[in-house]
Amino acid sequence: MSKRRNRANKTFENVPVVDAGAKGKSVAKTEDGAVIFLKNAVPGDVVDIKTFKKRKSFYEGEATVFHTLSDRRTTPVCKHFGTCGGCKWQHMGYDSQLFFKQKEVVENLTRIGHLDLPEVTPIAGSADQYYYRNKMEFSFSASRWLTLEEIQSDIQIEDKKALGFHIPGMWDKILHLDECHLHPAIGEQIRLSVHAFAEAEHIEYFNPREKTGVLRTLMLRMSSTGETMVVIQFFKEDEKARIALLEHLKTTFPQIKSLQYIINEKANDTIYDQDVICYDGRNHIFEEMEGLQFKINAKSFYQTNSQQAYELYKITRDFAGLTGEELVYDLYTGTGTIAQFVAKKAKHVVGIESVPVAIEDAKANAAHNNIDNTTFFAGDMRDVFTADFIAEHGAPPDVVITDPPRDGMHKDVVAQLLALAAPRIVYVSCNSATQARDLALLKEQYKVVKYQPVDMFPQTHHVESVVLLEIIK
Ligand SMILES: C[S@@+](CC[C@H](N)C(=O)[O-])C[C@H]1O[C@@H](n2cnc3c(N)ncnc32)[C@H](O)[C@@H]1O
Repeated sequence: MSKRRNRANKTFENVPVVDAGAKGKSVAKTEDGAVIFLKNAVPGDVVDIKTFKKRKSFYEGEATVFHTLSDRRTTPVCKHFGTCGGCKWQHMGYDSQLFFKQKEVVENLTRIGHLDLPEVTPIAGSADQYYYRNKMEFSFSASRWLTLEEIQSDIQIEDKKALGFHIPGMWDKILHLDECHLHPAIGEQIRLSVHAFAEAEHIEYFNPREKTGVLRTLMLRMSSTGETMVVIQFFKEDEKARIALLEHLKTTFPQIKSLQYIINEKANDTIYDQDVICYDGRNHIFEEMEGLQFKINAKSFYQTNSQQAYELYKITRDFAGLTGEELVYDLYTGTGTIAQFVAKKAKHVVGIESVPVAIEDAKANAAHNNIDNTTFFAGDMRDVFTADFIAEHGAPPDVVITDPPRDGMHKDVVAQLLALAAPRIVYVSCNSATQARDLALLKEQYKVVKYQPVDMFPQTHHVESVVLLEIIK
């Protein structure tokens, strides 16, 4: 055994698990201060641990013996919990999930941002803790992921096809899902029906290593209005199999308002550079929020938990403190949902976003919703959100809402915000670590007056954070 492996492979006994850490792992701490990240424990457990990786300041390992089971534990509802990477926190009660999410936001803003914070507004939990996702993407595989028991058993495995999720970190390994509790029941029915039909009709599943097979991915979008979109991605055209499967879906599920397909022969699964062909119904479905309708096509971005997106947007609008007189900028506007949501309480809203088709959707949705006080611009934030742009629009904004991707804002965009000196900024973030980094740059001119975490993704460690900044006079 190499020295390096020797250092990584250690055993620790009776170690308390003391916290929840990054990426859904829990944190154990030995008496002499060693920190170990674990995938399979809950804060409050006391465990024996085998480590398999040594980093500079911590180990990664696995709990092998559970001496005490934490009060924070609950029974996972899904039989695939532990193998599937979808919901890493199903074994932790929802109150505890919320506790650790809020703690992460407070700690990131404190430790990374070094900010003077007011009392945190308690985290907004999700009313639905399961069945909340409106978009799911499953992959087909000709050679499914086998459990250790299956590998060790003597039984010859005939059924090798999978329709499910990638095993975390493995691009070519798909776990077949007999059940999934993240999406509404219609999604479950369609996924199982597609699998059963494809098996019965002997339609080949994709083999990503050998680049063979027909069925590649299945995307489902299910709106809160009860409309469903199905997009099947084929690796190659097999007209007979394609029509048989699409006809099967068309006749079995009247809820499908948009039935589409893609023939994608390239190396990767991404659909954004592919033609999406409408087989039946429309090329879009509608999502609704507070009387607004949003048209969603196969490539549109829309928040994946519709009900909780409404809560997030209400908090954002409330923090913005609009009276109807304000010029608002909505940075990283996506398909302009926040912009349209706040428009009726603002004088005018300017949305900026890098994806041109998202901006086309934003314009079309605003027109569809009879909103005439929004303007949308496509381009990289660094290039569009400049002093010239602001001068062209007549006046600096009264409120800036910013909702950047996980990486946060580019430092030039933060510098522009400082130069602009808008009275209020509402910063919505899905990564409170990068949010804290950006707020640290803004704090020379802004103070945090309110902040609230929001849980958009129960059963996962992800957490959204909304912060209201006011200019220091
Ligand atoms: C977290 S999403 C926000 C979406 C929107 N606010 C909503 O609630 O639906 C971040 C958005 O930023 C866009 N984006 C990423 N990098 C960008 C950049 N450099 N300039 C402009 N927009 C960018 C992404 O395309 C995405 O639509």
